[in-house]
Amino acid sequence: MVDINIEKAEAILEKKGFLDIDINPSLDLFAEIEKIKKEKNAIILAHYYQEPDIQDVADYIGDSLGLAQKAQSTDAEMIVFAGVHFMAETAKILNPHKKVVLPDLNAGCSLSDSAPPELFKLFKEKHPEHIVITYINCSAGMKALSDIICTSSNAQKIVESLPENQKIIFAPDRNLGAYINKKTGRNMVLWNGACMVHEIFSLEKITKLKIRHPQAKVIAHPECEEAVLAVADFIGSTTGLLKFAQTDPATSFIVATEAGILHQMQKNCPDKTFIPAPPDNSCACNDCPYMKLNTLEKLYLCMKYEKPEILMDEELRIAAKKPIDKMLEISARYGL
Ligand code: 13P
Ligand code: SF4
Repeated sequence: MVDINIEKAEAILEKKGFLDIDINPSLDLFAEIEKIKKEKNAIILAHYYQEPDIQDVADYIGDSLGLAQKAQSTDAEMIVFAGVHFMAETAKILNPHKKVVLPDLNAGCSLSDSAPPELFKLFKEKHPEHIVITYINCSAGMKALSDIICTSSNAQKIVESLPENQKIIFAPDRNLGAYINKKTGRNMVLWNGACMVHEIFSLEKITKLKIRHPQAKVIAHPECEEAVLAVADFIGSTTGLLKFAQTDPATSFIVATEAGILHQMQKNCPDKTFIPAPPDNSCACNDCPYMKLNTLEKLYLCMKYEKPEILMDEELRIAAKKPIDKMLEISARYGL
């Protein structure tokens, strides 16, 4: 590697991210990352949508709830978050005294972007009797406007933990919100947001795949549109989908979520077949462009230079922590 000092790394980072730093291609990044992990007492938390190399070097791979719980319980001094910004931000909210780094600060989320806090505040003011349940895929500003945070693996339980006559706003994902309304019989007011990756699956192409593979079970993430969920044999969070694939007797599955999860599915079930659900055109849009901004090289550099770091205003952090704590407390109560 062109060995540069921290000041130079910072200057490059400020302008372009880590893209401009060349790494010697003969460097064994896996070994280097393991070495830095030990030296710095760091933990790598990775989401299932990360590229396979990152999943293979991670200490913990999980869905959004699992990652938040792991971030809450770790005693590592540095949390290296291989995921998107809202996930690393959640880890920082829970760990103000730890260093939290994210390989690429531009790793955002279309769903999070679909709920700007200033607009949501006005929406909330129009529903003064409602409490706000917000999907974890949102900014700290949105969390600060919320009463309880949820993820796809605990949303139903959290809604059901509230009295039946409690008025609720659910944000930002309209698909997950509609799915939970259907499951619980509630009538939550939905914010009109969505994930660009999960909205792209083509029902027509899934139906054709199903005709070609009649034994295959369709498994889908609840961020998908209602029409896709209607043909699914199982709906769940990424961890839920993985567990279902491992325990269900079926040997082939059409998977309607971001394609990164296929790595763990194939690793855990080498004898089963996993077919990624096709998008509605020929693009690779079932890859999340934000998740895939992180690379093994950037992961290594961010551990070496301890940058880019997640920093946040303390007042905002405290306000955003309250609804996350509530979620973690309800999840623990239900053994989730
Ligand atoms: P989960 O891993 O919690 O199911 O969330 C999926 C997702 O879209 C994360 O961005
Ligand atoms: Fe956001 Fe969708 Fe990417 Fe998840 S898959 S990070 S919800 S854009």
